[in-house]
Amino acid sequence: MSRAPAQDVADWWQDSHRQYADGRLVFGGRDLASFATGRETPFFVYSAERVRANLERLINALDAARMPHRIFYAIKANRFAPLVERMRSWNLCGIDTCSPAEVLYALDRGFAQTDMLFTGHAVSNADLDVLAAHPGVHINCDAISTIRRLGERCPGREIGIRINPQVGAGYHAGVHYAGAKPSKFGLYPDRFEEALSVAASFGMRVTQLHFHFGYGYLTQDLPRLSAALEASAWFMDRCPDLETVDIGGGLGTRITADREALDLEAWAALIASHLQPRGLKVHLEPGDYLMKDAGVLVCEVNTVEEKAGVMFAGLNAGLNLQNLWAYYQTPFIVAPLQRRSGALRTYTVTGNINEAIDILAEDIDLPPLAEADLLALMNAGGYGSSSASNHCMRGRFDEYLID
Ligand SMILES: Cc1ncc(COP(=O)(O)O)c(C=O)c1O
Repeated sequence: MSRAPAQDVADWWQDSHRQYADGRLVFGGRDLASFATGRETPFFVYSAERVRANLERLINALDAARMPHRIFYAIKANRFAPLVERMRSWNLCGIDTCSPAEVLYALDRGFAQTDMLFTGHAVSNADLDVLAAHPGVHINCDAISTIRRLGERCPGREIGIRINPQVGAGYHAGVHYAGAKPSKFGLYPDRFEEALSVAASFGMRVTQLHFHFGYGYLTQDLPRLSAALEASAWFMDRCPDLETVDIGGGLGTRITADREALDLEAWAALIASHLQPRGLKVHLEPGDYLMKDAGVLVCEVNTVEEKAGVMFAGLNAGLNLQNLWAYYQTPFIVAPLQRRSGALRTYTVTGNINEAIDILAEDIDLPPLAEADLLALMNAGGYGSSSASNHCMRGRFDEYLID
């Protein structure tokens, strides 16, 4: 995706969760313009109800396919404490972590060690010391080095091994985590037997295989998920103690009009077809799927100006708060909180960070914009606040959870 497709703000993405009513944007049952009154921008607003609906949709699909499962929310996507604590109160999922700090943070939010997975890369001795002190956390090792150093600290611990299925999927080729080119993630067949013997030398049973193969896979990518599961069979055959296959996160949300949402019935049936005959359980680590459309970044337009034939709208937020278009070319839905009347115009929406890549949306069609208008960047709930930086010392933002 090199260019965000033109969109009509009255169009495809509206549903009971977010829609226009009399030209005013309603999100999670709230009139956002009213909500923004008296609040400083930029701010993120998250709908707990939507997160729960996203989670229950996955659970229901796997239950319907009679596929034994457990979901671990990838907390890297959004760690806003009230939201994580709310998720804890639902008792519907565990937490997937990728750093010791995330483990400690999730413990503080009320999750138990046994509710947690850890799947990290380039895991240091200091990281392993923390993990060793938390024996209930299930660790997926993605290098022989990690297995050896973990084994030295806690022999006999059950582990998972992250494998590389050599097939990736997602919103576009640039966000595939696995493919023909060797990547840093996971074990390949060439050294897998060695990994197993290192684990065995420390008495560690390998009860889980793990892969995470992309970012934003949708229905059209299900053959790739099937290929990844097929590639995993070779590894499964070599793990006599296997109980679970963890297929990671990467589930996509509908972000453009031209692609259908992930067909969860087909998805669950596919997983079941590969794992049920072996009597295995599936673990999932969705992050963005739960958060993406449950969060909005509300910003103020401060500059509207045509330059060299392009109409730019500058905002009081930038890639330091939401980098998905700048880094990954995955578009947001941009929608004014209150629509002005008049014909649609094509805008490039820019951030306030002094980097040429600080673009939030490119060549999108919007109702006329004016300075001081408030805009919503929708599908901004994941990897926004959790990866925010203070670039240009513009790191200030607020967050709100709504029911
Ligand atoms: C190992 C692992 N699991 C889960 C996730 C969550 O992915 P997503 O937010 O795309 O679902 C990631 C993201 O990088 C990951 O690396």
